[in-house]
Amino acid sequence: MKAAERFCKSELEHDPSGHDWWHIHRVVQMADRMAREENADSFICALAALLHDVADEKLNESKESGLRKVQDWLEGQAMAEEERSHVLEIISTMSYNAGANPPMRTIEGKVVQDADRLDAIGAIAIARTFVYAGWKGHPIHDPNLPPRESMTPGEYRHDKSTAINHFHEKLLKLKDRVNTPSARRIAEERHRYMEQYVERFYEEWEGRI
Ligand code: ADP
Ligand code: NI
Repeated sequence: MKAAERFCKSELEHDPSGHDWWHIHRVVQMADRMAREENADSFICALAALLHDVADEKLNESKESGLRKVQDWLEGQAMAEEERSHVLEIISTMSYNAGANPPMRTIEGKVVQDADRLDAIGAIAIARTFVYAGWKGHPIHDPNLPPRESMTPGEYRHDKSTAINHFHEKLLKLKDRVNTPSARRIAEERHRYMEQYVERFYEEWEGRI
């Protein structure tokens, strides 16, 4: 596990997009807590949590090259082939992907996906979203750019979004997309906070307070 931590740190240490080492650290901690609550294999959960963003397609040339990097690393580690393929399966299928991916097959996959999603709901998630938007050069908010889900496919411009739109496009939907009861409780609490934040944002934007 120490080796996985070193590998992950060297890959993500200087990540400027909100997928930095401390994001991984939070996901690992949350996955560990949930693995106990859900009786999942804590070794698999910890390893998948540590490696889940090393292969992220946003941070690599492609999804394939990112996964290959993780696979090569796993092959150099002494562990059962079954464990390797389980970890790879989790990290290659857990991404949000506009809600289009099928449900995770194993409880370990559900736990790690939930732990990652919980880091996208709540106070820390708000900070991450603005960091990501800054990294992409997106504005905080633009009333002329409605959330992409309300556009027709012809109007859909993938390169144009805003931090506030990301709340509507994804973050506010996440609480209904978590797998386990333990994550659900935490998600609901964090969701309320985020909802209040967005309401307050509009109130200030429109000069109502
Ligand atoms: P996943 O790992 O589930 O695919 P992402 O890596 O896309 O999730 O997103 C992780 C976090 O990065 C989000 O929760 C959000 O905070 C931030 N993020 C991703 N895409 C955007 C975006 N278009 N605008 C603002 N923030 C974003
Ligand atoms: Ni992540």
